[in-house]
Formats: sequence, C-alpha cells, structure tokens
Amino acid sequence: MIALRVNGRDIELSLPSTTLLLHVLRNDLGLNAPKYGCGLAECGACAVLVGDTSVRSCVVPIGAVADRSVTTLEGLGTTDHLHLVQAAFIANNAAQCGYCLNGMIIATVALLRRDPRPDETAIRAALRHHLCRCGTHLEILAAVRAAASATAQVTAGATSEHV
Ligand code: FES
Repeated sequence: MIALRVNGRDIELSLPSTTLLLHVLRNDLGLNAPKYGCGLAECGACAVLVGDTSVRSCVVPIGAVADRSVTTLEGLGTTDHLHLVQAAFIANNAAQCGYCLNGMIIATVALLRRDPRPDETAIRAALRHHLCRCGTHLEILAAVRAAASATAQVTAGATSEHV
C-alpha cells in the first residue's frame, strides 16, 4: 500500500510502486490536467507539484512520492477562486491549443514559490524546458511577468492562501 496526499486529500494505492504518477493521476484519480506528451520528461505537459517543486509525473514512480504532497492544476484554484497564476494566464490570453498550459502554470507556481520576484532570466530559465508548439511564448511570458508582479504585491502586503 502506498500513501500520498493529492490536492489535500489522503490517498492509499494498492498498485506496484513502479506505477507512474501520471498514470495514477489520470487513470485512477480522474485528474486530467497533467497531460501525456512525450513520456520522456522532455516536454513538461505532465508537470505537477511535489511539495513546492515542479516534477515530470510521466517518469516519476509512485514509490518515489510515497508520503509526499502532490498538487495538480486542479488543486491550485477553483473556477470561482482562481489561483493568481491561472488568472494571469487568462488575462493575458496565454493559450492556444492549451496542451502545454498545465506545465506552464505549474512551472510558474513553482518558480514564484521559490523566487517571488523573478527577473526575466529566471522566468525564461523556469519555462525553458516546457514546449509550446503553437508559439504562444510571448503571451505566456507576459502572463508570468503579470503573475510575478501580483505575487510581489501579495507578499508585500495582504496575505493569500493561493500564492
Ligand atoms: Fe512528461 Fe512530456 S509527458 S515531460
């Protein structure tokens, strides 16, 4: 039995420890925000947070995240109460086909948790290994800058559970 916490919920899985986290999230838990793209840890479509770190769930066996906290895009915000990164992506029209969006948002949340005031170099480095085949890069960069600006305002003044 492998125990983990997914989006704040305690889960126990009777699966081989080598079962890939992406498959468990999508097939067993019905969390379809993480996407299968390459299956090789190269495109970023499958990214989730383990703790505060963005990881590629397509290559992570569930045994490696036993007793850890996993957050998917579904666990960040709700339709009525968006995470500020989600709101920034919507405000900046930072999507076309949307396939990369899960990974872009997860990577941005991880970036802003470790560096609430990232400069342009840090932003580009954080997204460097996330592929977008539609060419939405300029809008995505604008969204991340806007999210960083909003995060800086939140950390400077009011508090929010969604930073
Ligand atoms: Fe995991 Fe591409 S599907 S990185």
